[in-house]
Amino acid sequence: MQCEHLRVGLSLSLTDELLPVKADSILIQQVVMNLVINGIEAMTPDGRGERHIMIMTHQVDQWVEVSVHDSGVGIANEKLINLFEPFFTTKMDGTGLGLSICRDIVEEHGGRIWIEQRSEGGSVFYFSLPILDKEGAFDQA
Ligand SMILES: Nc1ncnc2c1ncn2[C@@H]1O[C@H](COP(=O)(O)OP(=O)(O)O)[C@@H](O)[C@H]1O
Ligand SMILES: [Mg+2]
Repeated sequence: MQCEHLRVGLSLSLTDELLPVKADSILIQQVVMNLVINGIEAMTPDGRGERHIMIMTHQVDQWVEVSVHDSGVGIANEKLINLFEPFFTTKMDGTGLGLSICRDIVEEHGGRIWIEQRSEGGSVFYFSLPILDKEGAFDQA
């Protein structure tokens, strides 16, 4: 990702331990890339203000939660319900498919995806994936 060219800082905060999940890595990479690109596109182009993306992973019970935090303009409350619908876009050249594809991919993996507004501005998109138990089966009890 050419973050330097885009003048966007990228930081990572990942769990110390690698958490085993059953996932198609290409598809999950696509989810993360969609969220990162949306975050960058939500930043003002004039170079003012913070331009930062942070990717975090956490373990929450039997789930790994991945979050992508951006310092963009955030999302108006009335748009929140439509965000994941196919063809919903606020961009001149947007397809409106990115988040709907993300949701399909995450749900096919047995996880879910959601958004939280940051009080200090910007958005946080989260998605979860079930951690495999020792026998390699999903453990969602
Ligand atoms: N990180 C974000 N910050 C602000 N708005 C966002 C963010 N991610 C998505 N959105 C809003 O959700 C809409 C749908 O996103 P998406 O499905 O990726 O389609 P597209 O990027 O083609 O518009 C965007 O047009 C934008 O209005
Ligand atoms: Mg998009």
